[in-house]
Amino acid sequence: MLYEKASCKRGTTMDTFEAIEKRRSVRQYTGEPVPKKDLEKIIDAGRLAASGSNKQPWEFIVITEAEMINKLKVAALWMDRAAAIIAVVMDPSSRWWLEDGSAATQNILLASTALGYGSCWLEGYTLPREEEFKGILGIPKEKKLLTLIPIGVPVQWPKKEKKPLDMVLHWEKYPSQPVNAKG
Ligand SMILES: Cc1cc2nc3c(=O)[nH]c(=O)nc-3n(C[C@H](O)[C@H](O)[C@H](O)COP(=O)(O)O)c2cc1C
Repeated sequence: MLYEKASCKRGTTMDTFEAIEKRRSVRQYTGEPVPKKDLEKIIDAGRLAASGSNKQPWEFIVITEAEMINKLKVAALWMDRAAAIIAVVMDPSSRWWLEDGSAATQNILLASTALGYGSCWLEGYTLPREEEFKGILGIPKEKKLLTLIPIGVPVQWPKKEKKPLDMVLHWEKYPSQPVNAKG
């Protein structure tokens, strides 16, 4: 994995497209704290996401205490250097809870990036332990825990190869020949 020096100036925000481009899954944090007002701003971005029928079937738990972070780090050992972990809690009685939770999660990742913090969408290792984490966090049985999102000051900004635009963008119609066969 390629890395770039963590150069974003915290305390400022960046343009939307810059944040989209800069956002990468950050898995190395310095251990520095993130001010509460920044965490609130990040959660506010999650709250403002699009949702099916505007049901907004989400709640967010912000975990900052080291003891609690330690209990959750079985989802990813490197989380113990994060300043906070956000648990995205969903109400599955809404038909689009999964899409809505994903939209909120993406807003949270982008807002974190815009404020200069690293974050990571942690679902792969969260869902298999959902019941265990719900117990630790006191989440009611009828709710779903969709993602855990560690947030922190990044040691570095990782770079990830992305498919080029011309491989995924089609105008008007799906191409008749496979895209990667295009000369
Ligand atoms: C649905 C979903 C689940 C993910 N689960 C995990 C996870 O459990 N652990 C992890 O380290 N990263 C997880 N990620 C982050 C992906 O590995 C990452 O987004 C992908 O490798 C692309 O890298 P980038 O985010 O830096 O662009 C997840 C991402 C998504 C969207």
